[in-house]
Amino acid sequence: MAILNLNLGTRSYPIYIDSGLIHKTDLLSSHIRAKRVCIVTNNIVAPLYLHSLKEKLTDFDVDEIVLPDGEAEKSIANFEVIMSHLLKNEHGRDTTLIALGGGVIGDITGFAAACYQRGIDFIQIPTTLLSQVDSSVGGKTAVNHPLGKNMVGAFYQPKAVFIDIDSLITLPTREFNAGMAEVIKYGILGDKLFFVWLEDNMSAIKAGDKVVLAQMIERCCQCKANIVASDETEAGVRALLNLGHTFGHAIEAEQGYGKWLHGEAVATGMILAAKLAVAMNLLEVSELRRMEKLIAAFDLPITAPQDMGFDEFIRHMRRDKKNIAGKLRFIIPTAIGQSEIRDDVTQDTLQEIL
Ligand code: NAD
Ligand code: GLY
Repeated sequence: MAILNLNLGTRSYPIYIDSGLIHKTDLLSSHIRAKRVCIVTNNIVAPLYLHSLKEKLTDFDVDEIVLPDGEAEKSIANFEVIMSHLLKNEHGRDTTLIALGGGVIGDITGFAAACYQRGIDFIQIPTTLLSQVDSSVGGKTAVNHPLGKNMVGAFYQPKAVFIDIDSLITLPTREFNAGMAEVIKYGILGDKLFFVWLEDNMSAIKAGDKVVLAQMIERCCQCKANIVASDETEAGVRALLNLGHTFGHAIEAEQGYGKWLHGEAVATGMILAAKLAVAMNLLEVSELRRMEKLIAAFDLPITAPQDMGFDEFIRHMRRDKKNIAGKLRFIIPTAIGQSEIRDDVTQDTLQEIL
């Protein structure tokens, strides 16, 4: 088992990575503060993992909330569903919420934990690749608003993260590939050696080799933990983790949440950011081609939706959380393994690449 630590002083927490972790409940129990536990999951994940998790938590008083599946369910309405369940069932401040599922469940559960009675404990058990390498670590919690993705949320850290690699066995290939977009993101934004490692290990990753997957997930979590430890609330370097997201969030919002998977939108977004970099003479075309090749190898899209041009993108990008004083800010890859935050992208350049 690999154990990483996200160092945030008194709010530090461990990230456990192993096969079969959902069944190792002694470890999980040690992070639950009192008797009551509420597991939040969805109707896809519940039949797969809820029973075996609940069955092992015999020392606790456990109930559950099973939400419908999908990005559209990361909503203010479902946030209220969670609040009402906790209140009706008289959960107190000592309850621990467990998020069992992908990024949608992790984000909404974390936000509910941040708000319920001004903050209760929560634990992440991420079951998709995307949530294992990204969303379960770092404490960004949120729900979507019809006018923008993740627009209502909080920075609120979990007490522990349990990454069970075996849960990837049941994950559909399209979802696995969407997670690979966030994996590749770490290579492009700041770790060239990892990008090369991904190119070299592509076949083993696709074949689901557990040793290789564990190494890959650990490297991503370590990268994320280092960045979050130095900039928890995104005052600076953490913004680099948004590589591809400025364009990606616009695609998700414009197409309707759920049509493009988050990772798919980020994949195309990273290529659009790289094209911006090429247009600004900041990136070699050969590096762009290498990025396109690795991303496309996981069947991820590398071109924007046909029906989206400059106007459709700009409408959404004006609300991007990275903007300062109304100025759009982009994460621009300047080489494989190197990126910068720029606010000097001209409208002409944007129009050219969109
Ligand atoms: P998701 O939570 O919708 O999960 C993808 C699909 O896989 C869903 O249908 C889900 O029910 C299903 N699923 C989950 N685990 C499974 C398993 N083990 N076997 C079979 N099916 C399984 O999507 P996601 O890609 O995990 O997460 C995307 C969300 O994460 C977005 O809302 C995005 O904004 C958010 N996100 C947050 C952060 C953050 O830092 N908080 C970072 C990146 C993404
Ligand atoms: N997924 C981006 C971040 O956590 O900052």
